[in-house]
Amino acid sequence: MANVEILGAKPRVESIQSGIDPAARERIADSLGEILSATYSLLVKTHVHHWNVVGPLFHSLHEMLEEQYGELFQATDLFAERIRALGFSTPVPSISVQPAAREMVAEEIVQDLIADHEATVRTMRQAALTAEDQKDIVTHDMLVGRMEWHEKIIWMLRAVITK
Ligand SMILES: [Fe+2]
Repeated sequence: MANVEILGAKPRVESIQSGIDPAARERIADSLGEILSATYSLLVKTHVHHWNVVGPLFHSLHEMLEEQYGELFQATDLFAERIRALGFSTPVPSISVQPAAREMVAEEIVQDLIADHEATVRTMRQAALTAEDQKDIVTHDMLVGRMEWHEKIIWMLRAVITK
């Protein structure tokens, strides 16, 4: 006898009636899965740059990046749990962006990170607009908050290398 029968568990039926069309929920969950992967990729890249940074800006960038990968890690949980709240399993994130495994000076690191932050914000902007169109204002709101953070980080990173 299968465990599920012994324990008396019943197959789960998803019936979420919170005002978002089921097809829209799936579409939004898929885009959150992509954002989860982009966030993990940026987290790994930020962490590796934190280790490999060299040069006169070592200390400030090393510390700044530590704070950033911590915040990126917290954000992954927000996206993953929002996917669950929408009624879907959270996918295993794929790390698609690999940092070069070598020492780099601040300028090179900052330019590399800014490009990824900007790409992430563009993906989030599209997903936020879709979520709003589909009446998922909770996901929309969450994405707006995350975009605000990324845009602030882009400003701070630029400021580090401005002469
Ligand atoms: Fe560290």
